[in-house]
Amino acid sequence: MTASPTTMPDRVNVLLIGGGGREHALAWKLRQSPRLGRLWVERSANAGLRAIGEVCPEPTTDRDLFRLERWCERESIGLVIIGPEAPLAAGWADRLATPERPVFGPVKAAARLEADKAWAKDIMRAASIPTAEGRTFTRLPQALAFAETREEGCVVKAAGLAAGKGVVVCDTPEEAVAAVRMIMGDDEERTGRGAFGEAGNTVVIEEKLLGQEMSVLALVDGRSIWVLDPCQDHKQVGEGDVGPNTGGMGAYCPTPLATEEVMREIERDVLVPTVDALRREGITFRGVLYAGLMLTTGGPKVLEFNCRFGDPECQPLMARMKGDVLETIWATATGRLDELADQGRGLETDPRTACCVVLCSEGYPGPITTGHEITGIEEAEACGGPDEQVVVFHAGTTTDGDDRLVTSGGRVLGVTALAADLERAQALANEAAGKIAFRGAFFRTDIGGRVLVPRSG
Ligand code: AMP
Ligand code: GLY
Repeated sequence: MTASPTTMPDRVNVLLIGGGGREHALAWKLRQSPRLGRLWVERSANAGLRAIGEVCPEPTTDRDLFRLERWCERESIGLVIIGPEAPLAAGWADRLATPERPVFGPVKAAARLEADKAWAKDIMRAASIPTAEGRTFTRLPQALAFAETREEGCVVKAAGLAAGKGVVVCDTPEEAVAAVRMIMGDDEERTGRGAFGEAGNTVVIEEKLLGQEMSVLALVDGRSIWVLDPCQDHKQVGEGDVGPNTGGMGAYCPTPLATEEVMREIERDVLVPTVDALRREGITFRGVLYAGLMLTTGGPKVLEFNCRFGDPECQPLMARMKGDVLETIWATATGRLDELADQGRGLETDPRTACCVVLCSEGYPGPITTGHEITGIEEAEACGGPDEQVVVFHAGTTTDGDDRLVTSGGRVLGVTALAADLERAQALANEAAGKIAFRGAFFRTDIGGRVLVPRSG
């Protein structure tokens, strides 16, 4: 663990790694801090980020990390915030942290909780953390033999990072066999031949859990844990939860699914034992610990851990944050959440509900085209009554040669509405999203619908 400065400087220059909707929401909130010095974003950051930050001239790739380190030194960067999982899994937090420059985001050894689902399962098993029963396979014939017997359905997962696409929920043994072949590849002798390369060399096959899904994110400073209000994401592309999985089509916060008692249970039985189990391995977790959970009839069970803010979950979370997020992030990165709490500062949240609806490019999550002009963001942000607010976060946007705002990805914008209750926040987000136009734009109008309308079956 790297030692950190004893008190937070009055002004902090921040480098924010990552260029999507999650990072735009973080940057928007960081900008509200009186202690923010210069805010630097990546060259590949979306147009929304580039409008509120300065662009770091150095490439942000694994290969060029030494140059980034030197640049951080020259620009007196006082805090690095790492948004996405890939740089965390690659050990950027280990590399970029110095005594004067804390990093928000776990070290490589801790990021393994997300980057290696087989290892995460071992940690959970050893610490008796409630999760789906599962088995790990590193060889194709054994994985196939097991998949063939899964009459009651199962879930096949690539153990490594697969950009959110490495999980297949299967209803029949045939589907499970096909999923194993897709992930591991069909060649028994040569590994890394599946759809996700090396990330699919190991698969986890687990029981299929039933229930409502929920995301519980917590700030962890190595010792202390601050649990954030629970969110619900919507992973499938189509209304009513049909179609292929995406990175997330929308999320709202807080979700009424988790009573205070359930939240206490999740903290006691999932979050605390996970951080403790890592500590027993000599690993200090600092950053966001994200538990993807299924609320089963047997209680909450872990589907996956992530080691970062969720996207889109970060958007409704940031929209509701009232305190100084820069101060909170700095305290997390330096192991000082308790000090902040002792001063009565920190995680004050807006009592309103936030609902984020993701506007996507035609064809997403499959192949898409980009470069289509986007209009209507101002009109969208003008929606709502006096006690309501709409913020549009950018995800896949850029500017073209004529300085027009254009699409550059599958998930284009996150339209985030704050209103008195979920029903109203959903209606407002939908109304605002409807004001925005680009060729082929589409969004789900039922974000939050799972708890608003009781569904049968
Ligand atoms: P993961 O990336 O592990 O969260 O998986 C992606 C999605 O697959 C989750 O959001 C769930 O909808 C689904 N899923 C994962 N594991 C299970 C499981 N054991 N039972 C049912 N659904 C699952
Ligand atoms: N929204 C799901 C994730 O960020 O993994």
